[in-house]
Amino acid sequence: MRAAVLTAHGRPPTVAEHPDRVPGPDDAVVAVTAAPIVPLDLLCASGTSYFGAPALPYVPGVQGVGRVRSSPSLPEGTRVWFPTTAGMAPGDGSLATEACVPDAELVALPDELVGVTDPLVAAMGLSAIAAWMVLTWRARLQPGEQVLVLGAGGVVGQVAVQAARLLGARRVVAACRSEHAQETARARGADAVVALLPDEGQVELAGRLAAACDGPIDVVVDPLFGVPASAAATLLGRRGRLVNLGSSAAEAAVFGSGYLRSHTASILGYTNNDLTTTERNEALLAVLRYAAAGDLTVSHRVVPFDDVALAWAAQADGSARERLVLEIG
Ligand SMILES: NC(=O)c1ccc[n+]([C@@H]2O[C@H](COP(=O)([O-])OP(=O)(O)OC[C@H]3O[C@@H](n4cnc5c(N)ncnc54)[C@H](OP(=O)(O)O)[C@@H]3O)[C@@H](O)[C@H]2O)c1
Repeated sequence: MRAAVLTAHGRPPTVAEHPDRVPGPDDAVVAVTAAPIVPLDLLCASGTSYFGAPALPYVPGVQGVGRVRSSPSLPEGTRVWFPTTAGMAPGDGSLATEACVPDAELVALPDELVGVTDPLVAAMGLSAIAAWMVLTWRARLQPGEQVLVLGAGGVVGQVAVQAARLLGARRVVAACRSEHAQETARARGADAVVALLPDEGQVELAGRLAAACDGPIDVVVDPLFGVPASAAATLLGRRGRLVNLGSSAAEAAVFGSGYLRSHTASILGYTNNDLTTTERNEALLAVLRYAAAGDLTVSHRVVPFDDVALAWAAQADGSARERLVLEIG
C-alpha cells in the first residue's frame, strides 16, 4: 500500500510503499479516503510523549474515514470512521491507502450523515468527541450556564463553542491567541472573544476575561493549561468546573487552594483514551448529527496525500490555521 511513513522522530513522514498488514480474524480492512493531521499525531511522532517513543518506521494517523474493504461484521463498502493507536502502541495508523484496525473500533456512519463529507468527518473526529464529552460528561453542563472556551480557534474549541450553545449555555465566551483564531471563534458563534496576549500575567488576563463574562463562569473548556487556565480558574463561580484536556500553552498551571475551597470549584482532567467504545461512538454520532443538520462545523482544508510532509510541517510550526485533512485514495 501507499503510506505516509515516518522514519525519524520529530521529522515529517513521506509517502512511500509500505507493507500491508495481514488482518487477524477480529480485524477489518478499510480503504482510507480522508485522514487529518492532529496535535496528537505530532506528539506521538516526536518520540517524547508519555506513550514512549514509537518504533520506526511506522505509519502515523490516529483516525480516519473510509469504506470497508473487509470486516467480520460490516458489509463491504460501508462508510466508517475509525480510530487507531498509531504512535501510542505498536502498529500502523490512518495515513495510508489502507488501514487494518480491530473491527470493534469501526463506527459505521448511517445514511442520515450522508451530507457530512468524509473530510469534515475526519476534521472533527477525536477533537469533536473530546469537546462534546468534556461538556456533557466531565463538566455536566446545564442549560443557562456560562461557558468559557480557551483556545477556541482550534477544532476542540470550535466544537466546544457550538456545542455549548446547542446544549443551552446562556453565554459562551472564547479566548484565542491569533487574530485568525479569534475570527474563527466569532464565526462559530461566541458571544465575546478575548485575545490571549503573549507574556500577559494571570491577574491582567483574568481582568479582561471577567470583563467579557456575565458574572461567574460555570464551565471552562481548557485545551491550553498554563496562564490561561490559571486566570480562568479565578473566575469560576460556586461549583464551577474547569476541564483540562490539553497543554498547548504549558504543562503546569497554578491554582489557589482558598479560591477552589471557598467556591467548591473543580479542576478536572479529560482524555478520550478513558472512554468506552460505546461512549466514544455515541459522542461522535451526536456531533455528526448536528453537523448534518447544519448546526455545527469546523474549519478544515483538504490537502493531496502526496503533500503530507508539507501539511505535517504546517501543523508543526502553527501555520496550518485550520485542520488539514489528507485526501487519500
Ligand atoms: N485529551 C484528549 O482526549 C484530547 C482530544 C483532542 C485534543 N486534545 C488536545 O487539545 C488541544 C487542542 O486540540 P485541537 O484539535 O483543537 O488542536 P488544533 O485544532 O490544532 O488547535 C490548537 C489551538 O491551540 C492554540 N494554541 C496553540 N498553542 C497555544 C498557546 N501557547 N497559547 C494559546 N493558544 C495556543 C492555537 O491557537 P492559534 O490558532 O492562535 O495558533 C490553536 O487554535 C491539543 O493539545 C490536543 O492534543 C486532547
